[in-house]
Amino acid sequence: EKGGYKHFMLKEIMDQPNAMRNALRGRIYQPADVPDKWEIKLGGLEKAKEGLSADGISPLERMANASRLIFAACGTSWHSSLIAKYAFEKLAGVAAEVEYASEFRYRKPLICRSDCLIAISQSGETADTLEAIKMAKQHQALTIGVVNVVGSSIARETDAGMYLHAGPEIGVASTKAFTCQVVALLLMALRLGKQRGVLSETTLNSYCAALNSVPDSIEKWLAALTDQTRIVSKYFRLATNAIFSGMGIHFPVALEGALKLKEISYIHAEGFPASEIRHGGITLIRNFVPVICVAMRSDPAYEDMKQMVQDFRAKDAAVVVLTDDGNTDFSNIAHFTLHCPDTKLELQPLMCCIPLQLLSYYIADMRGCSIDQPRNLAKSVTVE
Ligand code: M6R
Repeated sequence: EKGGYKHFMLKEIMDQPNAMRNALRGRIYQPADVPDKWEIKLGGLEKAKEGLSADGISPLERMANASRLIFAACGTSWHSSLIAKYAFEKLAGVAAEVEYASEFRYRKPLICRSDCLIAISQSGETADTLEAIKMAKQHQALTIGVVNVVGSSIARETDAGMYLHAGPEIGVASTKAFTCQVVALLLMALRLGKQRGVLSETTLNSYCAALNSVPDSIEKWLAALTDQTRIVSKYFRLATNAIFSGMGIHFPVALEGALKLKEISYIHAEGFPASEIRHGGITLIRNFVPVICVAMRSDPAYEDMKQMVQDFRAKDAAVVVLTDDGNTDFSNIAHFTLHCPDTKLELQPLMCCIPLQLLSYYIADMRGCSIDQPRNLAKSVTVE
């Protein structure tokens, strides 16, 4: 069942290129007769569920006219929502907010009919996310589900949506569902950008081509990356604290890296936007503390990030940098540099999260942790 792997988590990490291809299949394609042209078709958004569209308006059109998008989710799904916020603002030019479902449901949030709530959930059964949907419905907002488990409560409760098609995720730590959520949300942002007239055809085509090639790039990279992360993991396996840091769209990647590590290795870990560390967290930076930084050259905050990496090193932290292929800026600064395949900025989280997943996995394995069933943690939190 584990396909020869020691744990489901490792199988699911390695399965990501295929899972992402399944998330893309049938949704992104090139019309046969036009070279370099791409189309995105999202069946679940282009047609309303039966009985919901008396006015003949599709969920996609309603989304395109929404005054704002509200993403509601928990845990890892909350991190993919944060990545989506960057992508939807830039690619679709629409205001987007991200809410912990568990906080949202206990407030009196100002929701109006022109809002669209997008619930992100692997299991489709998370109680708080389900409750956030019900609240949005009471205010007559449109509700969209981005869910992995077919026929789950969230899939049934929402007005329309997208399945991830990631396949069953057994490991409690979410890996392939996370990357497929990001893929699905990027597709949605691009499709909405087209609908809203924000993206030119050339830009849309270049994003589609780049997104379509991500699974192949990851597949080619995985073997070498596995060897590299095992070496780094050996070095950090006895750590008691770790810091993850990234800026912009890579801040949620840092949060996800920290969550993965604490979830399965029980090492205390925190994710910070790099510059924000100056406002308090910097006291945690001292000799031998692992600091894992995402520093991609296309990031608008790259120079700031580079400065922070130098500061971390000056304080004798053990610095790991994730950066672009061929970037030598960190050769004399970082203890370890991991090079990620090139892609567009908004797609980079798909690449950058993979070394962080592997790092957590190998560190937890070297510590003898119960990887697929971490203590105290359920795969799906259905209690309130
Ligand atoms: O099934 P959901 O995506 O709604 O679950 C949300 C969280 O419980 C989940 O992502 C959790 O944080 C994972 N264990 C993270 O790896």
